[in-house]
Amino acid sequence: MPGNIRKTTLEECDLLIRNASVIDGTGGPIRNADVAVSGDEIVGVGPLDGIRAQAEIDSTGLCLAPGFIDAHTHDDWALLGTPDMSFKVTQGVTTVVAGNCGISAAPFRVQEGLPDPFNVTPEIQKFSFESVTEYRYAINDEAPAINVRLLAGHSALRATVMGPDLARAAMSVEINRMAELLDKALTEGAAGLSSGLDYPAAMAAPMEEVVMLARVLRHHPNTVYTTHIRDEGDGVIEAIKEALTTGQRADVPLILSHHKCAGSRNFGKSKTTLAMIDAARAKAEVALDVYPYTASSSALIERFIGAAIDVIVIWSAPHPECGGRMLDDIAAEWGVSREEACTKLKPAGAIYFDMDEEDVQRILQHPAAMIGSDGLPGTEKPHPRLWGTFPRVLGHYARDLKLFSLAKAVHKMTGLTATKFSLTDRGEITVGKKADLVLFNAEAISDLADFNDPEQPAKGIHYVLVNGQITLSRGRQTQARAGRFLNSHSQ
Ligand code: ZN
Ligand code: CU
Repeated sequence: MPGNIRKTTLEECDLLIRNASVIDGTGGPIRNADVAVSGDEIVGVGPLDGIRAQAEIDSTGLCLAPGFIDAHTHDDWALLGTPDMSFKVTQGVTTVVAGNCGISAAPFRVQEGLPDPFNVTPEIQKFSFESVTEYRYAINDEAPAINVRLLAGHSALRATVMGPDLARAAMSVEINRMAELLDKALTEGAAGLSSGLDYPAAMAAPMEEVVMLARVLRHHPNTVYTTHIRDEGDGVIEAIKEALTTGQRADVPLILSHHKCAGSRNFGKSKTTLAMIDAARAKAEVALDVYPYTASSSALIERFIGAAIDVIVIWSAPHPECGGRMLDDIAAEWGVSREEACTKLKPAGAIYFDMDEEDVQRILQHPAAMIGSDGLPGTEKPHPRLWGTFPRVLGHYARDLKLFSLAKAVHKMTGLTATKFSLTDRGEITVGKKADLVLFNAEAISDLADFNDPEQPAKGIHYVLVNGQITLSRGRQTQARAGRFLNSHSQ
């Protein structure tokens, strides 16, 4: 192993992080060590006295973890629009998986009149690309502060091939064309296929259409199928069944997106859904992602509001003055029903209070559950998960509620996620891995973002390194922009 040779002959390095409590990302015990970085790599881990270093950080009392990997994002466009990515860097996130829920910046032909969820962020129009290669060039030119792994979206493929009228199943010639585009996207470095079968853009797509496309993944090692299932409310059990069947029939690894049981009628159903997932895991590769909140956020859509106890309108194109207000208050003021108010406000974004805390905790604890924020950048008053997800898991759920150990929590946002997305050179603190690192205070770490004041950086993150570059120093973001497009072939 070249890593070991380097370690024994190590005499100097660029940066030496001394006296850290190392949480290595595997879920194993925390141990005390020094970590040496040269260029973009970890070059030494252990007692490293006697090494000359260009720079040193004394991290006594702090925990050093691999940079967090956000398993579920819609950051495709923000990486180009707001490349400092402060809402991720300040949480210790160094890599995001983008292109989720069926919508991706590439391969995608922008056009007028696309249905939801293409309205989920206003930036979609500005930064979308017909090929993954073009997106990759754009990312590498812009150099955002963090890395990106891109999934190709099923709805993006549908829009590109079928145009704006997506309320129907694709014809077989269209499926073939989508399969070609997907194959090309994967060849150009996309890491899998995502779907969003709960949204108008893909609701009419039968399972067969998705199975045919997911089968393309079989020709591309290290790829996955991720899905925002057809129904997260009353039909959640059926929808999980469909997703598991799709994965099995296509014979590809499956990731269930932002798993939840929405609506009070469905509280407690996570016992059943997780048991189904466990049964499937005995035969196939199945994992899931989850965010640590009982409220969801998405486009404002009539059929999502039934399950929610409360709905906050975050933005509205025709009624910007309604941003930040409760849907019920708007409806009362207008003298209309919730549904009618919703129709008038669209296109719009919303937060839905629709989950049970016990379900959220049960799902978070599942051994195959990774942390994914599902944050929606580019809107005013976003769901606090955009700025708070990772510190909230470490502070609120691991330290305060003791839902799991700190090492487990870190594993769910590093090693586990790296394995599921085949990010083979990240997610662990080992010699030879890329130097994506975060140094934090385990006693102080907490999310400050809440529903009233959602754009608050978290507390307790001291340093963040992305590909060896110090991107956050003593809690302040630096000018470094060392992020890369992480190609599924060059691991
Ligand atoms: Zn989704
Ligand atoms: Cu999503």
